[in-house]
Amino acid sequence: MNLSDRVNNIKASKTVQFTPLIQQLKQQGKVVIDFAVGEPEFETPADIINVTKKALDDQNTRYGPVSGLPELRSQLSARYSGYDGDNIIISNGSKQSLFSVFQVICNPGDEVIIPRPYWVSFVEQVKMAGGKPVFVNTINHQLDIGAIVRAITAKTKAIIINTPNNPTGAVYPEAGLEEISRLAIHNNVYVVSDEAYDFLIYDELRSVSFFNFKAARDRTIITNSFSKHYNMTGFRIGYVAAHKDIVQAMAKFQGHSSGNVCTFAQYGALAALSMGEEILIQRKAELEKKRDIAYGYAAELFDCIRPQGAFYLFPNITKHLRQGRTSEDFAADLLEKTGVAVVSGEAFGMPGHIRISYATSEDLLLRGFDKISEYLHSEETSV
Ligand SMILES: Cc1ncc(COP(=O)(O)O)c(C=O)c1O
Repeated sequence: MNLSDRVNNIKASKTVQFTPLIQQLKQQGKVVIDFAVGEPEFETPADIINVTKKALDDQNTRYGPVSGLPELRSQLSARYSGYDGDNIIISNGSKQSLFSVFQVICNPGDEVIIPRPYWVSFVEQVKMAGGKPVFVNTINHQLDIGAIVRAITAKTKAIIINTPNNPTGAVYPEAGLEEISRLAIHNNVYVVSDEAYDFLIYDELRSVSFFNFKAARDRTIITNSFSKHYNMTGFRIGYVAAHKDIVQAMAKFQGHSSGNVCTFAQYGALAALSMGEEILIQRKAELEKKRDIAYGYAAELFDCIRPQGAFYLFPNITKHLRQGRTSEDFAADLLEKTGVAVVSGEAFGMPGHIRISYATSEDLLLRGFDKISEYLHSEETSV
């Protein structure tokens, strides 16, 4: 096929790499323990489902405004003091929000600084916008501010920050974020702050939005999502909070690409904003408990940093890699031999690691880690 250079130059998402194989194994009747998924196992809360159903019954099924339902934009803006509905744009998940953001801020050759490991889509999205990803390493999964300073050039357009982080679960302290905000002002660059997991933060830590850094506000582009907070991954609703010029540019772009976000799903999002948070707080507590359990198991097997947010562990597995084997080989072999699916660090720009999602039942955590332990043992004895 005669495809564009644009598509030929991007890599397929590695987080979904094993999905067809997992399905095939399940069809063959094999038990698969899925630690690869990027969503909590919880159901969407009933209030959200009921309001969405009603929106369908009421025929809220037509085109809506490209930037989202005005009421939804306005209610979301209340989270950002001084902003109004014109500072918010709704997209089909924050994945599309981020895609549109890079489309509207990047010119060809503009550099975007991406701390590594990173969420799978940042790199390809920057490339699709004509930008150049510039990677900086982290130290024990935390930002290395010095490395970011050194990476800034006259071509730097933006710095991406993602806390709580996928794949590491790391939460960045406020002081470091504030330093980034000062860098953004000093160097006249944007900060794209992906806050998709802001609700899922543990150990009584306080979630710090980049919005807090008032002096950098016009340089700050926040992306957020209903997916993980409200267990609405399939609704596909994300949003951006930013300067009105950014929001207007995104609206122009979305007007020719996606058009509006599913109308009745946005009614579900409105219901999410007005429902009581008790059930979500309870679910968060369950995830925190699972974090403790999963981290306990993982720390016995691997070098693993204790995460404080999201629902992932990102252990270093290099000591378990036989000569010449990569973490990608490890993940493929583990799935084939034990039925446990994980994502290899290559997906996140950090080979030698695997990402384990612990947003599953306690029983599956126990069984899955037992299988991983048996696998490691059999590998050691077969050398
Ligand atoms: C860090 C991060 N950002 C953005 C997204 C996109 O989420 P959604 O498009 O469902 O809002 C994800 C999904 O896994 C993510 O992990």
